[in-house]
Amino acid sequence: MVGSINVDLIAHVRRHPRPGETLHGSGGQTLPGGKGANQAVAAARLGGTVAMVGAIGTDAHASVGLSGLQAAGVDLSQVREVEGPTGLAIVTVAQDGENSIVVIPGANSSMDAGRVSAAGEMISRAAIVVCQGEIPRSGIEALPSLITGRFLHNPAPVMELDPAVLRASDPLVVNEHEAALVLAQLRPGAGSGASMPDAPDEIIRALRGAGIASVVLTLGAQGSLVADEDGVHRVPAAHIDAVDTTGAGDAFIGALAMGLARGDALLAAARLASRVGAFAATGPGAQPSYPGIGDPLPELDDPAGPAGADHALGARRTSTPG
Ligand code: RIB
Repeated sequence: MVGSINVDLIAHVRRHPRPGETLHGSGGQTLPGGKGANQAVAAARLGGTVAMVGAIGTDAHASVGLSGLQAAGVDLSQVREVEGPTGLAIVTVAQDGENSIVVIPGANSSMDAGRVSAAGEMISRAAIVVCQGEIPRSGIEALPSLITGRFLHNPAPVMELDPAVLRASDPLVVNEHEAALVLAQLRPGAGSGASMPDAPDEIIRALRGAGIASVVLTLGAQGSLVADEDGVHRVPAAHIDAVDTTGAGDAFIGALAMGLARGDALLAAARLASRVGAFAATGPGAQPSYPGIGDPLPELDDPAGPAGADHALGARRTSTPG
């Protein structure tokens, strides 16, 4: 895992404030967070062997930021302490479970090309290397030349990247908003006008068409779409009562990485990820809400499973001799 380590400062509110508005809230706890650390913890809690390449500061938040990684048994030998504050995320959670987040990078800003390359030996040994958009551009762009396994790339938040780095993603994991921003980079002439696809299956085909080997397009309560050389498949959501969606997407990605690392096909890994992400939304916070081995995961909304032909959207079929 190459990515951010944050501390999440939580504020519970009835609804999110409007610009210029002050609201009363509750909470005020600090919890371990950061997209990189969250995804690492999610994979490790499910039994994955996970190492973290990241940075923490020299402030009192550092121990909170590391606490979830340590408890999950993540290898921290490539986490460096840098002078200054640990990454901080101010997380506002509304009564319906939806959150809004402001991230202050702190020590994560030190994760540039030099720092990432210094962990090159560890990165080159990993079967799956996962990265997000909470470290500097140069650190992300250093990865493809170091990776010998698979590059699971979650460009969140999306930044301008070398298109060759975007095309090295396998899979690219994005929501619809992020997908549009990535497509705009891969097809700069197309702009954001009529030629930008709208429907999820068109978006995912466009990303594949732009040269990305495999894509997972997350669709919130609608589940996700998965595309690779076997076609486009829908993965349903699991229906749950959301308490706090903070870090649920990271739980999805950690589980996806763990599934791929143990040899699952992308569709099977995405089905596990969908259940793990749903579980994470039923508890407060990011890492504290993640399931461990043996926790009962919610079922997906398709008891028939992925074999049902209705779940394939233009999948490649193989015929059996009859
Ligand atoms: O994806 C959720 C995470 O985003 C939070 O834990 C916060 O730290 C921000 O990085």
